[in-house]
Amino acid sequence: MEFKKYLNQQCTVVEQALARYMLTEDGPLANHIRAMRYSLFAGGKRIRPILALAAAEALHSTTEHLLPVACALECIHTYSLIHDDLPAMDDDELRRGKPTCHVVFGEAEAILAGDGLLSFAFELLSHPDAQQGMTPDAQLRMINIIAHAIGPNGMVGGQSLDLAAEGQAISFEHLRLIHGYKTGALITASVQAGAIFGKADEAQFAALSQYGVQIGLAFQIVDDLLDVEGTTEDLGKTAGADAQRSKATYPAFFDIAKTKVLAQEAVDAAVTALEIFDAKAEPLRALARYIYERNN
Ligand code: IPE
Ligand code: IPE
Ligand code: MG
Ligand code: MG
Ligand code: MG
Repeated sequence: MEFKKYLNQQCTVVEQALARYMLTEDGPLANHIRAMRYSLFAGGKRIRPILALAAAEALHSTTEHLLPVACALECIHTYSLIHDDLPAMDDDELRRGKPTCHVVFGEAEAILAGDGLLSFAFELLSHPDAQQGMTPDAQLRMINIIAHAIGPNGMVGGQSLDLAAEGQAISFEHLRLIHGYKTGALITASVQAGAIFGKADEAQFAALSQYGVQIGLAFQIVDDLLDVEGTTEDLGKTAGADAQRSKATYPAFFDIAKTKVLAQEAVDAAVTALEIFDAKAEPLRALARYIYERNN
């Protein structure tokens, strides 16, 4: 199967599920919901939900009842982007090819749109449709893993470290830590969510977790690279923004060539971690390679 086709197909599956599960713009909250929907339906690669589905597929599981969880992961990610772009954080005005949420709806509503998406994600994680596909124990374990990954010991903590590191001389270990926390944690948790849903045994869960950690790291290294080498048009966000803000990035720490080697090494380690799986893990392997080769 051609990977591009798979990616498009899975993207459509996620888009359709988001359209089904997301709140609609009516009633007194129309403006708040409009702000959430504005950023959620602005495009986006939908990588985290696709990874969750692909991890379940690698375990020969069906995925229909994983869709609310997949949508929750995308809501959480979109919230992180809305807040990441705020003037108090990265202060970016372009996202997914459109003016950022705070530019269109104002700062206060953008903060609330992020809060709304984050909270709504937990409604989706505990949705009755998801309960049909797994035991209450599995669902609770999944929610615990995702909550941990996006909080102080994960994404939010990483964002805090990222801001504190602006303009600072930091060690390589600290840079790697920031990337693992701010981006790697949610990506790893997305894969783990699919693993739990697919009833992974201990060895399978460990292998998929290792895969998630490695692609999570690769994802942020490549994001750093694209900020240097990509175009604003391809990225749908302003290229060169990291250097402008003296961000702690791989290309700021190493040269481009070394950064590419490190990204490739992480992708290779991710693929190696999948050795115990059969051909059903092919999409996960292709996703790892895509993370390195993408241009947005
Ligand atoms: C961008 O994420 C922010 C990072 C964590 C690097 P994506 O590159 O997945 O952004 P979208 O969802 O496709 O817009
Ligand atoms: C974003 O990292 C990480 C999160 C949103 C959690 P970046 O700040 O590098 O993401 P972009 O480049 O703005 O998408
Ligand atoms: Mg940032
Ligand atoms: Mg940013
Ligand atoms: Mg970036």
